[in-house]
Amino acid sequence: MSDKKLLNYADYLNLENILNSQKLKSAEQGKPAHEEMLFIVIHQVYELWFKQILHELDSILNTFNQNSIEESDVSLAVLRLDRIIEIQKILIDQIRVLETMTAMDFLEFRDYLFPSSGFQSAQFRILENKLGLTPDHRIKYGNQDYKNPLLEAGRKVVKKAEDEKSLFDLLETWLERTPFLKFEGFDFWDQYSSSVREMLEKEVEAIRNNPNHSTEQIAYHLKEHEMATASFEAMIDVNKHNELIEKNKKRLSHKATQAALLIFLYRDEPILHSPYNLLTRLMNMDELFTTWRQRHAIMVRRMIGAKIGTGGSSGHAYLQKTADRHKIFSELADLSTFFIPRSTLPKLPGKIKKNLGYHFKS
Ligand code: HEM
Repeated sequence: MSDKKLLNYADYLNLENILNSQKLKSAEQGKPAHEEMLFIVIHQVYELWFKQILHELDSILNTFNQNSIEESDVSLAVLRLDRIIEIQKILIDQIRVLETMTAMDFLEFRDYLFPSSGFQSAQFRILENKLGLTPDHRIKYGNQDYKNPLLEAGRKVVKKAEDEKSLFDLLETWLERTPFLKFEGFDFWDQYSSSVREMLEKEVEAIRNNPNHSTEQIAYHLKEHEMATASFEAMIDVNKHNELIEKNKKRLSHKATQAALLIFLYRDEPILHSPYNLLTRLMNMDELFTTWRQRHAIMVRRMIGAKIGTGGSSGHAYLQKTADRHKIFSELADLSTFFIPRSTLPKLPGKIKKNLGYHFKS
């Protein structure tokens, strides 16, 4: 018999370390609070899931950090995004477990937590940066850099993720490589924009002739509609689009925006299935991060009301703002404003159809 030590479940999973890592501050202070165990375990489980999400995200970033991307690699990225999305659903559901702790229970040990806070989750910040949240787009609190509350080691890795190309950047470059927007005499935008203008004019007519609306309401809706029209004109006109980027009202480049729209509109072309799946998964992932932020903010309101956070922010109010603003791929969702029925889409010339390639090489 070999004297090789057999692998053991506890050793493989390093359970000795993991299961001895719940040190209750309330117990250290001689006032053990039953609920603190849940509070610690939940946070540790979150950090483990963040680790898994980052593992998946890194492989997706590697894929898109290449000049030419195989269709099979796009499909693999979609599968990995699906995994991230399933994990995110668990992250959102987990809040319900934490909510079995009441606000009064939390007060039994909250004071021991100061000044530690979710602000110090380096993995959460790395995740935000790798997805594409830039320092410019962040909600500022306390006039300080968001990296300040982190420990030295965490700050370095977060900064590195801030400096590297994010998923947003890589997606933009990939989209910009999409050919066929103008192709041998066929100008998709010319044809498509006249179809959309027609649709927008019909909408204006519908608003004007709505018998259920007062003159004030009609004026209000027409004003809203003007914004949709302006944003459509900006999508067609590169200069207007760039002006919006400068004003921080848009982020995705003009070319990438057009390519994304083309993928959405012609997703029935077999060759565009994977790109379409990729864009929808990115929107799903973004939405689920927003949902987590909203759920976390609601939970925080219930736990601490209008008190400030242990990290020094305004608490619920700050968190709600991040839910509203810390979005990465929401411009993809906004494109549906410009969708038109399939029957009115410009027909792609046969040559384009034949040339639609997975590699997006022009
Ligand atoms: C009783 C439960 C919780 C309360 C009362 C709470 C409260 C807060 C507050 C007030 C903030 C704002 C920063 C501050 O001033 O401290 C915050 C941020 C944060 N919390 Fe929680 N939290 C709770 C549970 C959790 C859990 C379970 C996680 C899971 C990882 C988490 C992750 C975070 C993260 C990542 C941030 C930074 C968010 C951002 O800046 O966008 N929190 N939390």
